[in-house]
Amino acid sequence: MTTIHIGVINVSDRAAAGVYDDVPGKAVVATLREYLITAFEPVYRVIADEQPELEAAMIAMADVHECCLVVTTGGTGPAPRDVTPEATEAVCQKMLPGFGELMRTTSLQYVPTAILSRQTAGIRGRTLILNLPGRPKAIRECLDAVFPAVPYCIDLIDGPRLETDDAVIRAFRPGG
Ligand code: MTE
Repeated sequence: MTTIHIGVINVSDRAAAGVYDDVPGKAVVATLREYLITAFEPVYRVIADEQPELEAAMIAMADVHECCLVVTTGGTGPAPRDVTPEATEAVCQKMLPGFGELMRTTSLQYVPTAILSRQTAGIRGRTLILNLPGRPKAIRECLDAVFPAVPYCIDLIDGPRLETDDAVIRAFRPGG
């Protein structure tokens, strides 16, 4: 059986410089381990807010490591160095705006500044790329909202079948 790879990119100038601990990236891996009963291997990177570097990392995770899913954290806001959505759009053939819409709507229950995140998602080949904000508490808030649709999305792009732990989160597949 081939190994299932999932990419995690912590996009942060300060984490890349070693000034901050890599908390959000680790939180993504921990949350995915809780959600999924399907075994997977993370492909993990911490990258500064530099669009060319980010694009290269996303492309490598999609095309070389053949990750079915790549989750980014950070760089989605309005600050000059926030370029994660731009990098995502640049490497994807198809955008899935529903992910950002739902995450912002859900996040508004927690913080009025939810509208400042330009987080989005898209498809590159057989890879779903999904942006999350960088705040550690936002990771779970956003993933809980959209993850039920993630396994079916990956089915539709001919990725591996991901099974969730229904006690933690229930994947929705139309038709059962
Ligand atoms: N969404 C959730 N669920 N929880 C949060 O705390 N923070 C917001 C927003 N979305 C937040 C959130 C804030 S303060 C900002 S500036 C934007 O995400 C962008 O964050 P980023 O630049 O780290 O990606």
